Amino acid sequence: MTISTEGPKNFFGELYLRSTRPFLADAVSDAEAAFLEARLREGDASGLVLDFGCGHGRHLSRLAKRLPGRVVGIDADQLSLGEARSSAPVTRGNFFRLPFRDDAFGAAYCWYNTLGTFCDDAVPVALAELARCVRPGGWFMVHGTPPHAATWQPEASYDAVLPDGSRLVENVRFEEATLRDTLKRELHLPDGRFMAASFFIRYYGVSEWEALLDAAGFSVRWVHGGVDGSALSDASLDQIVGAQKRG
Ligand SMILES: C[S@@+](CC[C@H](N)C(=O)[O-])C[C@H]1O[C@@H](n2cnc3c(N)ncnc32)[C@H](O)[C@@H]1O
Repeated sequence: MTISTEGPKNFFGELYLRSTRPFLADAVSDAEAAFLEARLREGDASGLVLDFGCGHGRHLSRLAKRLPGRVVGIDADQLSLGEARSSAPVTRGNFFRLPFRDDAFGAAYCWYNTLGTFCDDAVPVALAELARCVRPGGWFMVHGTPPHAATWQPEASYDAVLPDGSRLVENVRFEEATLRDTLKRELHLPDGRFMAASFFIRYYGVSEWEALLDAAGFSVRWVHGGVDGSALSDASLDQIVGAQKRG
């Protein structure tokens, strides 16, 4: 059986950056980076830290100031990397074939439902490759939306003008059977250009992460429902799972 490791087509890059950044308040990125920094200073998380899917570097830029020389990023998108590069070392590469040696990192994190944009079968492949590059005793933190939060609004439409004058139109539908949101996003730019992408985001529950991470050689050590360190509950909007590599 061939596993597709393809992500969404035509989504990451200019469309993603233009349509997502207006919703990513600095205060949110500040709090997320503070959470990551605290976890990375704890326990046995010493050594280099990989931002797995660093995007334009909103976490890297903050962490690079607080943990100088320790954070690096990888992403497939050149446009995002162009910005991330100004704050920390970054590499263009693919999650499924990382250009790093075995045990290179003391910790890694993957933020913002990034692994949910791949088919279910591809996620163990990415996690196995990531595990190869994290040393025994090192950490992996994965952030996303808990599945219960995705059910709150099974269908949604958005049509509004962004601060740069673009018109963003989005339709989202959640499917309980697959725990996926199916999204269609369109962006009409003030310069007349039009961008569109159809994609999905799969939301994984804690027991699914436990099984996926266990198969990759990690043991889950903690779960939080927010970057304030709160416990995961039915009211949580975030889910952050922290796991340590065995061996
Ligand atoms: C949802 S964004 C998250 C970006 C960043 N972590 C954040 O929180 O702002 C996912 C990122 O993963 C990158 N990405 C998607 N597929 C990838 C792949 N196969 N290899 C490397 N990066 C990939 C995208 O280019 C995008 O920047």
